Amino acid sequence: MSDLASLEERALAELSSCRDETALRAWHSRYFGKGGEMDAEIKKIVTVPKEERAAYGQQVNRVKQTLLQAHEQALAQEKDKALERSLTEGGVDVTLPGRPAPRGRLHLATRTLREIAAVFADLGFQIYRSREVEDDLTNFELLNMPPHHPARDMWDTFHTTTPGVLLRTHTSPGQIHVMREQAPEPIRVILPGMCYRYEAITTRSEIMFQQVEGLAIGTSITMADLKGTIVAFARRLFGEERQVRIRSSYFPFTEPSIEVDMDCIVCSGKGCGLCKRSGWLEIMGAGMVHPIVLQNGGYDPAKFSGFAFGMGPQRIAMLRYAIDDIRQFWKNDLRFLRQF
Ligand code: FA5
Repeated sequence: MSDLASLEERALAELSSCRDETALRAWHSRYFGKGGEMDAEIKKIVTVPKEERAAYGQQVNRVKQTLLQAHEQALAQEKDKALERSLTEGGVDVTLPGRPAPRGRLHLATRTLREIAAVFADLGFQIYRSREVEDDLTNFELLNMPPHHPARDMWDTFHTTTPGVLLRTHTSPGQIHVMREQAPEPIRVILPGMCYRYEAITTRSEIMFQQVEGLAIGTSITMADLKGTIVAFARRLFGEERQVRIRSSYFPFTEPSIEVDMDCIVCSGKGCGLCKRSGWLEIMGAGMVHPIVLQNGGYDPAKFSGFAFGMGPQRIAMLRYAIDDIRQFWKNDLRFLRQF
């Protein structure tokens, strides 16, 4: 019993001289760790004569509780002191200006696409998304290009290992998807999305690029509606003074087919490097939906007519910002992207 009393006294004295949390933890393992001094006293109980065992046991227990409580209290006090020290010594100047977080921005391609979509939304067009992996039937055949049709050569194609499955070469197959979903209701949609062509990469041509397709179908749609829509679009996106020129062209899925030019945004038609001295810049292909395509989409060409157009937002952004190399779009060079 007296050993126990002196152990208690010694332990409490040592505890009060502990100056930090490390010392307190060392103290705890010295007395209560495996083989520690209190541990030994507890194990001793079995060796005490039977008649003294209960009293000894009670005494050991009391000393254990006293020491543990004292340790806990000392530890809590030490933690409070450490917190206070860190608050006074490592003070924060809350008046310092913050560090600005780096802000992301939209990719030029996304921005251009959104601007084009906003113009057409104002003209009453809805946005329709269609698949990038297509079948030969929809990409070509239903667009009036049966197998071996020479016009297929206009689109160099990435074929997959599955026969008849390919990466779409233009957004025009989307016309078939919308028509088959909507027939016989009128349609006014744009179809933005990525297209793929197996062709040489140059400053003006990429193997992957975006297109925005447009399609309007109704019972009294004429070429004048197509022209009005294109002029309204060009003026909203490029400026109110813009002139639009229409040239006849050929696409198997439109009849008649046209290509649309706009007077050059740099020289306003006088002739410069951008427009190759012609005064005009091409912005899209378009035309009246071919009766066979209307039929393939589920519309009776005797009752319905429509127009369609397809433009390349990358080429449009190149015109707007005088970008001389289309490869900049997918390089993700931040020095290029940060300019927009
Ligand atoms: C077509 O793809 C037709 N489907 C467009 C169309 C739709 C006509 C509806 C009539 C009715 P074209 O191959 O010309 O047409 O491509 C249309 C536009 O996509 C081009 O004017 C150009 O802006 C863009 N484009 C075409 N090929 C590339 C390319 N390799 N890289 C970047 N843009 C391209």
